[in-house]
Amino acid sequence: MPHLAVNEVRAKYGAHEVLRGINLTIEKGEIAALIGPSGSGKSTVLRALVGLTPITSGGVDIAGQSINYKSAAAVRGARDRMAIVFQQYNLFQNMTVMRNVTLAPTKIKGRAKGEVEAEAARLLDLVGLAHKHDAYPDQLSGGQQQRVAIARALALKPQILLLDEVTSALDPELVTEVLDTIRRLASEGMTMIIVSHEMAFVREVANKVVFMDSGEIIETGSPKEMFDNPKTERARDFFGKILRH
Ligand SMILES: Nc1ncnc2c1ncn2[C@@H]1O[C@H](COP(=O)(O)OP(=O)(O)OP(=O)(O)O)[C@@H](O)[C@H]1O
Ligand SMILES: [Mg+2]
Repeated sequence: MPHLAVNEVRAKYGAHEVLRGINLTIEKGEIAALIGPSGSGKSTVLRALVGLTPITSGGVDIAGQSINYKSAAAVRGARDRMAIVFQQYNLFQNMTVMRNVTLAPTKIKGRAKGEVEAEAARLLDLVGLAHKHDAYPDQLSGGQQQRVAIARALALKPQILLLDEVTSALDPELVTEVLDTIRRLASEGMTMIIVSHEMAFVREVANKVVFMDSGEIIETGSPKEMFDNPKTERARDFFGKILRH
C-alpha cells in the first residue's frame, strides 16, 4: 500500500478546472518531483493535499485512510501529516528563529516547551543554523530564512514534506545551501513531494519525476527515464525547452 494515494483528484478555480483527474502514489521514503510548465497545476496539487484548495471530486488516502476534506478536524489531521513550505517563507518577523520553530508545537499542539526546544535545536542543526537560534528573520539571508521555514515545518513532525519551489525566490548563491538541506532530509529518509525548477537537483535527488501539463499528469518515471528518454511528445517538448538553457 502506498503511503499517499491521490485518486482522480479534480479542482477548479471558478469555472476553470485546474486539476483534471490527478492520480499519484507516494511510498514511504520516496521523493517525488513535480515538474511542468507554469500554470500546469503543480502548486495546486500540493495545496489540494493540505486542503488549501478544495477538491471537487476524487480523493486522497494517507496510510490507507481517506481524508475527508469536508471535516475541519480531518483537514487539521492532514496538515499534521503533510507540512507544506512555500516559496515565500512567511516567518514571524517579530520572533526569534527558535520561537518561529517552536511556536506551533507549543501553542497549537500544547507540547512541553523544553522538549520542543530540544527538538528545534536538533532541527536547526540539521538545516545548518545551529548558531542562529536568537536571530530575528530580518538578520538572516533569504536562504537562511527559507531553512528556518523548513525547520518550522519539520517541527510539526510531518510524515510527508511538501516543498513548493523553495529555492526560486533566492539569489543563486543561496540556492545551494537550501538544496543541501533538502539533500540531508532525503538522506534521513524523509518522504517528500518537491516542486522545483532545479532540474539537475531533481535528477539527483528524486526517485520519481512527475510531469504535469494543463492540470494533468502526462508522464511519470524515474529521473533517468524522464530526462533521457521521455515517452510523450509533451514531455519531450518541455525538456527540450528547459534543458536548452
Ligand atoms: N488563487 C487562484 N485563483 C484563480 N486561479 C488560480 C489561482 N491559483 C492558481 N490559479 C490557476 O490555476 C492554474 C494552476 O496554477 P498553479 O499555481 O497550480 O500552477 P503551477 O504549475 O504551480 O505554476 P508555476 O510553475 O507558475 O508556479 C493556473 O492556470 C493558475 O492561473
Ligand atoms: Mg507553483
